[in-house]
Amino acid sequence: MSIEELTARPAQANDINAALEHSLTNEWDAKIVTYPNDKYPFNEWILGRIRGMGYKLDDLSYLHESVPLDEVYKVTKQLCADTNLPEFRRMLNNFVRDVVVPKGKLRLPVAVQRFMNVRIMLPTTPELFFPYHTGLLYGHGIASRSIWMPFVDVTADEDLTRSMQIIPIKKSRELAKQAIDERLNMAQMTKLFAQHSHQIKAGPGSCCFFSQEHIHGSGRPNTTGKTRVSMDFRIAEGIYGDLLGRKIPAGYFHIIPNTEEEEERLSKRAPRSEAYNNGKPNIFYVANNTAATYSVPVHLQRYMLNDYMTKKGLTWNYELFDLEDMLHCPTLMHLIEERNANTVMYSIFALPEEEAERNRLLEIAVKRGNIIHFVNEDLQLTNADDLETIKNYLSFSKYGHSRLPIGLPISGQTKAYFDKWGASLAQNS
Ligand SMILES: [Fe+2]
Repeated sequence: MSIEELTARPAQANDINAALEHSLTNEWDAKIVTYPNDKYPFNEWILGRIRGMGYKLDDLSYLHESVPLDEVYKVTKQLCADTNLPEFRRMLNNFVRDVVVPKGKLRLPVAVQRFMNVRIMLPTTPELFFPYHTGLLYGHGIASRSIWMPFVDVTADEDLTRSMQIIPIKKSRELAKQAIDERLNMAQMTKLFAQHSHQIKAGPGSCCFFSQEHIHGSGRPNTTGKTRVSMDFRIAEGIYGDLLGRKIPAGYFHIIPNTEEEEERLSKRAPRSEAYNNGKPNIFYVANNTAATYSVPVHLQRYMLNDYMTKKGLTWNYELFDLEDMLHCPTLMHLIEERNANTVMYSIFALPEEEAERNRLLEIAVKRGNIIHFVNEDLQLTNADDLETIKNYLSFSKYGHSRLPIGLPISGQTKAYFDKWGASLAQNS
């Protein structure tokens, strides 16, 4: 079945096309992939950051001897935040374009997780290991791909308990279904999955490519006496931009430039904060008028708006609601077209779903010099370049014509829930 055919009609999540299935069961089936560590020295960079925090260490395997136990969580969180620094993103984006795209046989454009997950698995905390799980069960979509990258060498057999364990995709599908059908508890799953999983053997210069269906995890405490430091992140192809489950692009995933030249051009742009100060008042806009915002309570949207403005040091003193059930968003139209003010709203996915209507509104905002802040994505519409970026994200995720149910599996229970809703809608019509 072609992509066009699949896009044209709503499809079930398990109705993925043959190309995606081929990719998941070949290049992304728990494959170990090598990369030049001297060109992409992620492990050295992480070590440097930890040393920069004031800890003395030369080898990440002995981190537990230098960083006090009660400071490890703080260090982990700081490292995750650091992965959003421009110098790290530059190295990572190059790595994605040079290694992940060709070796994973992906097609551009691709989007990469905004913050990497950096993990520190100590040999001194037997309670803090990660049980077996899959990405799908955590709300990730079927087309999202994962990369696991250890910064210490865990290739030796004796490193089994500090490495990660994984089960090949076909066996994983079978076992996940069994666990759901037989309603297994955590201990039963741990025992069953451990019988079928194997140790990922990798180190600096190699990593593991896998999918959201692979059962993986530590599954047991680290008893090696050494620490494991690793990083993992997800990557998404634009062609399957509507099969990313609850992790839609722009908030969770950042589209990366297709070339190093484009990256260079973007890095030379003026700091964003300069563009915010146009002297106009900032007005909050909250609404439930699109599929993505229908069930997001306005008080939670307001929390996000408050938090964003405080972090940016911006002020506001006014709020407008949109009119429920008017999907053309007349309040938003009014704000952009008739007020001389900036708009602060929850998300680009709160814009009208109808493309011509939406583009007209965005173009008028640019022309009138009314800034729109999109809080969830940390995007701002200030000029024609920004307009292009926002359009790219919306088209990446196929906004307004996504395949349902967005790459998540639908169990009998969830289906019954939707059917109940559908039946009550039918009664009301
Ligand atoms: Fe995981």
